[in-house]
Amino acid sequence: MEQKTQEEDQIVTPWEVAAEKGGKIDYDKLIDKFGCQRLDQSLIDRVARLTGRPPHVFLRRGVFFAHRDFSDVLDAYERGEKFYLYTGRGPSSEALHLGHLVPFMFTKYLQDAFKVPLVIQLTDDEKCMWKNLTVEESQRLARENAKDIIACGFDVSRTFIFSDFDYVGGTEASTCNLDYFSDVSIYFQEIFKMHTTIKCDMDPAGLWFCMVLLFEISPVSCHTCASSAFTVEIIVQFLLQEHGQDCKVVGIFGFSGEDHIGKVSFPPVQVDMLLAAPSFPSSFPHLFSGKDSLRCLIPCAIDQDPYFRMTRDVAPRLGYHKPALIESSFFPALQGETGKMSASDPNSAIYVTDSAKDIKNKVNRYAFSGGQDSIENHRKYGANLEVDIPVKYLGFFLDDDAELEHIRTEYGAGRMLTGEVKKRLIEVLTELVERHRRARAAVTDEMVDAFMAVRPLPNMFS
Ligand code: TRP
Repeated sequence: MEQKTQEEDQIVTPWEVAAEKGGKIDYDKLIDKFGCQRLDQSLIDRVARLTGRPPHVFLRRGVFFAHRDFSDVLDAYERGEKFYLYTGRGPSSEALHLGHLVPFMFTKYLQDAFKVPLVIQLTDDEKCMWKNLTVEESQRLARENAKDIIACGFDVSRTFIFSDFDYVGGTEASTCNLDYFSDVSIYFQEIFKMHTTIKCDMDPAGLWFCMVLLFEISPVSCHTCASSAFTVEIIVQFLLQEHGQDCKVVGIFGFSGEDHIGKVSFPPVQVDMLLAAPSFPSSFPHLFSGKDSLRCLIPCAIDQDPYFRMTRDVAPRLGYHKPALIESSFFPALQGETGKMSASDPNSAIYVTDSAKDIKNKVNRYAFSGGQDSIENHRKYGANLEVDIPVKYLGFFLDDDAELEHIRTEYGAGRMLTGEVKKRLIEVLTELVERHRRARAAVTDEMVDAFMAVRPLPNMFS
């Protein structure tokens, strides 16, 4: 079992991302710690060769920088075996910021380049239960977020978007079972209270007992059990194998004996029933019936890695391929890479709902500059590109390699000033946000229904 140590300088889990004090996330260390692989140039070249198109800017610039078994997916693809893509979002907020768009923009490229089907999960149940939103509000947010996702340009003939309440919970969840849900949510609050008082250093038998209790009376498990015997199998296997003997979950997620058990039981709930199931083709009988050996590739930010490590452990025991992952670094806050993009601070991020004026203000006021404090010093020493946010953001969204290189050289040498770089960034972001706004405005409720309809996708591999 892994214990938190004094040297542990950075924290990356699905719920918390914190760099070493005053520093930035060390991604090399993260790769070592997580045990994933670096996405090297030869893999990027291979993607370009196999798809016959230039690698996406997020590949060229190392935004997606790590993977698990991505080369196996490419090997299989080269042999003529297709795969499917799986990604998702927890619909916790109304408006998405640019960082939220990154995995979807990349997934859209993968879908177009490899011509493969895609499933997108909206975990409205998770947000309902853990963020204290009502069922209706979570479902509303899921649909609103679906519009932003659709606006990224996904192909409806190859994309299935589902919300957990609708799909996992069965269609009844959105109608007659609402009452049932609000009743059970009272139990859930009780469980939550109980779980926040029990510490992780209790013996495995006690842990096991709590897990079983959670599964037996949680509304998600009731729903999932009713609609999918498959998921029950995962839960049972998982409980036996991961918790029967030791508390492996504690090690994987870096919890210590001081953490409350709610934190420990949360990942299995989300992993087993919510995040893991879509990694296996049999969860989508209307799409992949009889295709149990179909591989799954998950584009996500690297903070989701711990969830899928557990999923990957379970996969072979259930007779499926381990899902492969392609993982991105984090999109930095305007205030710099040491800061965290925070939902409570609207000035730490650019939102897809920001006006041109908002964007201009935010970039000019808040984007952390690596430029020197006076023009003389700037001309003399040049900008520190390592910490400069305008240059970082241009690295994500300015497609033209030659222009980016030109800016880096000129700015780094002090011949270009921060104001000029910010001006260019404002243009790039305004155009991006404008384009998104137009695309989103064109997404109708009928289109959302079409993407979310449980239906076969006849030409999804061609
Ligand atoms: N857990 C993710 C979140 O809270 C949502 C999610 C569900 C997801 N399934 C996924 C993210 C698959 C990436 C890949 O936002």
